[in-house]
Amino acid sequence: MVATAIPSGPRGGRVLGNMREFNSDSLGFIERCAREFGDVVPTRFLYVPALFLFHPDHVEYVLATGSKNFIKAASLRSPFFQRLVGRGLVTSEGDFWRRQRRLAQPAFHRGRVEAYARTMVAYAERMLERWTDGRALDAHEEMMTLTRGVVAQTLFSTDVSDDSREIDDALSRIVRPFAEQATLKWILDNRLPTPAHLRFNRDVRKIDRFVYRLIEERRASREDTGDLLSMLLAAQDEDGSGMTDKQLRDELMTIFLAGHETTALALTWAWYLLAQNPEAEAKLAAELDEVLEGRAPTVEDLPRLRYADWVVKESMRLYPPAWAVGRECVRECEVGGYRVPTGMQVFGFQWVVQRDPRWFTDPLAFRPERWGEESISRLPKYAYFPFGGGPRLCIGNYFATMEAVLILSTIARRFRLRPIPGKEVEVLPALSLRPKHGLKMTLEKR
Ligand code: HEM
Repeated sequence: MVATAIPSGPRGGRVLGNMREFNSDSLGFIERCAREFGDVVPTRFLYVPALFLFHPDHVEYVLATGSKNFIKAASLRSPFFQRLVGRGLVTSEGDFWRRQRRLAQPAFHRGRVEAYARTMVAYAERMLERWTDGRALDAHEEMMTLTRGVVAQTLFSTDVSDDSREIDDALSRIVRPFAEQATLKWILDNRLPTPAHLRFNRDVRKIDRFVYRLIEERRASREDTGDLLSMLLAAQDEDGSGMTDKQLRDELMTIFLAGHETTALALTWAWYLLAQNPEAEAKLAAELDEVLEGRAPTVEDLPRLRYADWVVKESMRLYPPAWAVGRECVRECEVGGYRVPTGMQVFGFQWVVQRDPRWFTDPLAFRPERWGEESISRLPKYAYFPFGGGPRLCIGNYFATMEAVLILSTIARRFRLRPIPGKEVEVLPALSLRPKHGLKMTLEKR
């Protein structure tokens, strides 16, 4: 087929383009684009042209088969991200990224990651010591504190919740701007000395000092404590060179940020969905009783915790923590029969593709068992892509899945989480997909 010019898309304002509609209701806007304009939809944000993709094959082209024609979307190159994660794995490109990915990869091998299972369960058990029957809490906040503790322990063997309260507070504050609807504005204004930005810069400096001190101490002791920092420190290229302190700092910060909020959200949405689907909740409880027989889970239990795994998969289908992936076209190419010029921003949306009735029957129903059905093997490869795909596939996908299944099982074995009547949950598509006002729930001991 001959590539044709871009198809038609939603009308926008003369100056802002589609920005106003997108900002007021991002999910509603992308759903409308797919419904009214099809699989390939052009949009515009001020002077920036963008292409929205809603077909798995087109997503596959951008992320995998045609990935050489794209780099990460322009929004990731803002000074805000640079200050926070520098040239870490999420933001870097080309040969530099390839080398860093090669160096970091062994730290994420299955065997290595499985050694962290005990930490994940121990942290969840410790949280449960504070949980009591009938207590009301914010499940999202609890999951964030938990996964932050796990990632700090597995990354640098540091118990941020105990010894370094100040660091934990700073770490929890720096992810806050990611959560605000005003993220774009926040990023654009990043250089202005507003109190929030001054505090952000102070917090990043504080964490920098902490991370550099850890690197220095570990380099000096040459000890392999089994954490990710040890692995990254030991990583060497064929020429014998390793990472500089700055590279290590950027990777640690990147993994820290990429690695805990997303997993916390996968768990948060799982609690939300289970609470609304008592049948699924009962099946999960029955599996946990049968497999665990009253004890906490271990890594050896994972193959038998099939339903728990499906619950996590199905939660990430309906509420993908990463609800969109973005790229910028750097070499003219063709997507779905349309010509894509260089400079165009291109987005694939998990939120829409994973809820599409062409691929999933009864797509809005929470049905974990669908993952055990034969039809699932016939899905187009990119009909489900919570971890992205192609060369930039999430390096922590096994880490995250294992952590989510273990934590879910540890908690669901002992508690049910009940919704609090009258508390509506609003979805906030910031950089990740969050519950806007948290997720207030009541604990019920099993
Ligand atoms: C449920 C949890 C998670 C979700 C949904 C998730 C999602 C994603 C997605 C969609 C990407 C690709 C972004 C793109 O292509 O532009 C990505 C990349 C990445 N993720 Fe995750 N992630 C999760 C957990 C983790 C964890 C636990 C870690 C580390 C411990 C991690 C570290 C990273 C890194 C370093 C990258 C960049 C990889 C590269 O470009 O080479 N993620 N993640």
